[in-house]
Amino acid sequence: MAEQIKIFDTTLRDGEQSPGVALTASDKVEIAQQLERLGVDIIEAGFPLTSEGDLEAVAMVAKNVREPVIAALAHANPKAVDAARDALKDAARSRIHVFLSTSDIHLMHQLKKNKEDVLEMAVSMVGRAKGYAEDVEFSPMDATRSEREYVYTMLQEVIEAGATTVNIPDTVGYTVPEEFEEFIKAIFENVSNIHKATVSVHCHNDLGMAVANSLAAVKAGARTIEVCVNGIGERAGNASLEEVVMAIRTRPDFFDMETNINTKEIYRTSRLVENLTGMSLQPNKAIVGGNAFRHQSGIHQDGILKMRETYEIMNAEDIGWPAGGEIVLGKTSGRHGFKARIEALGFELTDEELSRAFLAFKELADKKQEVDDRDLEALVADKKRTSVEVYHLDFVQITSGDHATPTATVRLIAPDGSVLADAALGTGPVDAIYKAINRIINVPNQLTEFSVKSVTEGIDAQGEVTIRIESDGRSYVGRGADTDIMVASAKAYMNALNRLLSVQRRADSEVRTSP
Ligand code: KIV
Ligand code: ZN
Repeated sequence: MAEQIKIFDTTLRDGEQSPGVALTASDKVEIAQQLERLGVDIIEAGFPLTSEGDLEAVAMVAKNVREPVIAALAHANPKAVDAARDALKDAARSRIHVFLSTSDIHLMHQLKKNKEDVLEMAVSMVGRAKGYAEDVEFSPMDATRSEREYVYTMLQEVIEAGATTVNIPDTVGYTVPEEFEEFIKAIFENVSNIHKATVSVHCHNDLGMAVANSLAAVKAGARTIEVCVNGIGERAGNASLEEVVMAIRTRPDFFDMETNINTKEIYRTSRLVENLTGMSLQPNKAIVGGNAFRHQSGIHQDGILKMRETYEIMNAEDIGWPAGGEIVLGKTSGRHGFKARIEALGFELTDEELSRAFLAFKELADKKQEVDDRDLEALVADKKRTSVEVYHLDFVQITSGDHATPTATVRLIAPDGSVLADAALGTGPVDAIYKAINRIINVPNQLTEFSVKSVTEGIDAQGEVTIRIESDGRSYVGRGADTDIMVASAKAYMNALNRLLSVQRRADSEVRTSP
């Protein structure tokens, strides 16, 4: 029988460490609920010691997501372990994940401690965590650049102290598949109590080998893989969930393993993470990129038409790519047709969200003859963004032209329901809009990125604007879609500001020490 591989998703922790990503607590809950639908076994929800806000976000995930184990990360120090315990107190199933570096370079230059002291810290913090949770994970950080004998000793001792999972991180993405496979095998041979724990792996993608290294480790006996949706994460990211899962599923002849993942939820999870993190997927991203199932050359198209398997090793529908992309809605489409299409795309909307999305669809269909799946995805994402905002953009009007001074008037609805309006001049229309909004909200920030792309083809297409703003050393992504790109720009700015306002509390108390 195929062996079971556990999927440990760290999108909400290592993924959130991607430069420029800042998730609100409600973003985290939304992603965690989707990860639950996807069927991941463990969700690492955050790093509670880093800020009060992250502690609360982990606590909210723990309250709202009951099926997977909820893990919280902690440095090997008492405050961090206690913060993880506090964040997880309402979890149905919890795990405390303690980490500490083992490589000489980290010990000498970062921790400035000797090996004996570090070993003692790891053992005592695993013991402390064990006093709070049955399920304790330990990670010797930078394991692949550490002296092997030291890693064996560390693993032996932390298992003795109660660790139920030992995770081997390739923290800087340094190893290669053959070497990592051999390392994992050596761990099984040199750590005499290893059978008392599950071996997990956590690979970074600095050399583009995170997925290959993770799969090589599985061949050597690892039974948990730590991954992020869309492969996001610190620097070049972590092993990508969808690639790991689909490799195992597509090659049972080679791996003879299985996961609990409902692969039909992959596409939707990927799009949700893309939207909430603002980290756009490259078109050629394996499994979930826009081109992953597109065929350009005549020979390939011909083969596909004759038999799909000639040029496809996976079926797009198994990943949840919406079928019937050719179905388009229009002005005369009714609420039933709209609802059916939204459901086919995998969105679960409340009645209120559906009503708001339907109104927005009607407005769009007035401007655009054909509304296809890409439009609907952009529209639902836009509506979801406005359902968690602090200030709401009620109205925006712009004048500009080659002989006009760009001028914008905006009206916002404040959290207490009051209506606030202002106007400003700018060097261009976007500048004028952002200045007018700034006059009302007044949060110092800098615009560092601005891009616009069209959601579909055609002159009547919606434009999707993605921006990044920086404030107090953190950056916030904002997105907005509209047939008028100035309105989309205003929506994107409001989205970024609303994120900034809700994350600000977290940022204020933050003492982030990224692992
Ligand atoms: O990359 C790393 O080493 C980590 C650990 C905390 C597991 O993220
Ligand atoms: Zn990591």
